[in-house]
Amino acid sequence: MKRALISDIHSNIEALEAVLADIRAQGVTEVYCLGDLVGYGPNPREVIDEVMKFQLCLLGNHDQGALFDPEGFNSGAERAIFWTRNQLENGPGTAVARQRRWEFLGELPRNRLEENTLYVHGSARNPLNEYVFPEDIYNKRKLEKIFALVPQYVFQGHTHVPGIFTEGFSFFSPEELDYEYRLGREKAMINVGSVGQPRDGDPRACYVVVDDDVVRFRRVEYPFDKTLSKIYDIPELDNFLGDRLRDGR
Ligand SMILES: [Fe+2]
Repeated sequence: MKRALISDIHSNIEALEAVLADIRAQGVTEVYCLGDLVGYGPNPREVIDEVMKFQLCLLGNHDQGALFDPEGFNSGAERAIFWTRNQLENGPGTAVARQRRWEFLGELPRNRLEENTLYVHGSARNPLNEYVFPEDIYNKRKLEKIFALVPQYVFQGHTHVPGIFTEGFSFFSPEELDYEYRLGREKAMINVGSVGQPRDGDPRACYVVVDDDVVRFRRVEYPFDKTLSKIYDIPELDNFLGDRLRDGR
């Protein structure tokens, strides 16, 4: 079975549509989303409506921020969250559709364990909020503690930086892996990257396809100029949130 794992869409419908087209072209039958459907971008309603069709979706910290009081966000991210909440509460569409989206967000789980594989937004230790960055390979205490909670494999997002952490405390970017990694006996944490706001210097949308024991990183071009101009037109969304799409930062 082929399964697509996507994360951090952040209300970017152009990126999501391009990724879904690529997913269909791969013959993938299931889609799991690891959270952060909303926040930063201009199309929260459209993104939620698509994600509701997936086989699994987890809660991200920005989704939680939109549902409850945002805590620990910088001012630009917080403004985007309040704008998002207002869109979901008062935006166009029927009251029934608005209610359905709120209930969907409100019921998202924080993790999913399937046999030897855990799915989270952040980390095995703190599914919602903890970042595991490539430079954390130099923080052995942190990685040791997190790896102790890894059943065999963990798929995660949250940093928007795709790649694979192995138990020998190495990190491999998709390029270093030639975009492919075979799951083996070694524990691994796989960051699937971000669909809607990549931050590894490559502006293309990122996700992975898992085909039995092979993980393939996919990069997909999308018309980010369109997303960017929508962000420019919404005063509550900082222009920086559009600019960074062009740079992949
Ligand atoms: Fe995110």
